[in-house]
Amino acid sequence: MILQMKNIVLYGFMGTGKSIVAKRIAKAYGMNYIEMDDEIEKDSEMSISDIFSIKGEGYFRSLERSLIQRLSKSDGNVISTGGGVVLNEKNVIDLGKNGIGICLWATPEVIYERTKDEEHRPLLNVKDPLAKINGLIEKRKSYYKKVKYHIDTTELIPEEVVERVREIVEENSK
Ligand code: S3P
Repeated sequence: MILQMKNIVLYGFMGTGKSIVAKRIAKAYGMNYIEMDDEIEKDSEMSISDIFSIKGEGYFRSLERSLIQRLSKSDGNVISTGGGVVLNEKNVIDLGKNGIGICLWATPEVIYERTKDEEHRPLLNVKDPLAKINGLIEKRKSYYKKVKYHIDTTELIPEEVVERVREIVEENSK
């Protein structure tokens, strides 16, 4: 069991499995599951796609930033972050003050397969999503690497990822 009720913060590109794993971890530990995109949609009363198309990505990033400032003062949460929060290094630093950060990875091809039938991600609503995924990962990987723990989910089923997260959390609770 977790000794201190620190947050568990999952980072990673879209389609790396953050949400499903966060939900299961929260259930296993009796913690609170927080999906950042859902919180932003609730607070702003707009969908993520509308925020991007009407207000622009910069505005979305400022909403993410404010939410993180609030969440970094909370505890007992399993937080599934949006894939772009790492772009502002202050986000990772703030969430790290009271949370264990774990970054999930997958190959661009697997990310493409996992996301291709979904339409709620404005950044992937493009003609050639695989090229976009490759380009964004290339730009972002140095940011993701700043997170302390990493799990490659490419060949893992969610239960196996959950198990790896649990090992990391237990290790941190000693
Ligand atoms: C984004 C990822 C999305 C969402 C928004 C932008 C990104 O979240 O925050 O569409 O910049 O990678 P998920 O990673 O939960 O899909």
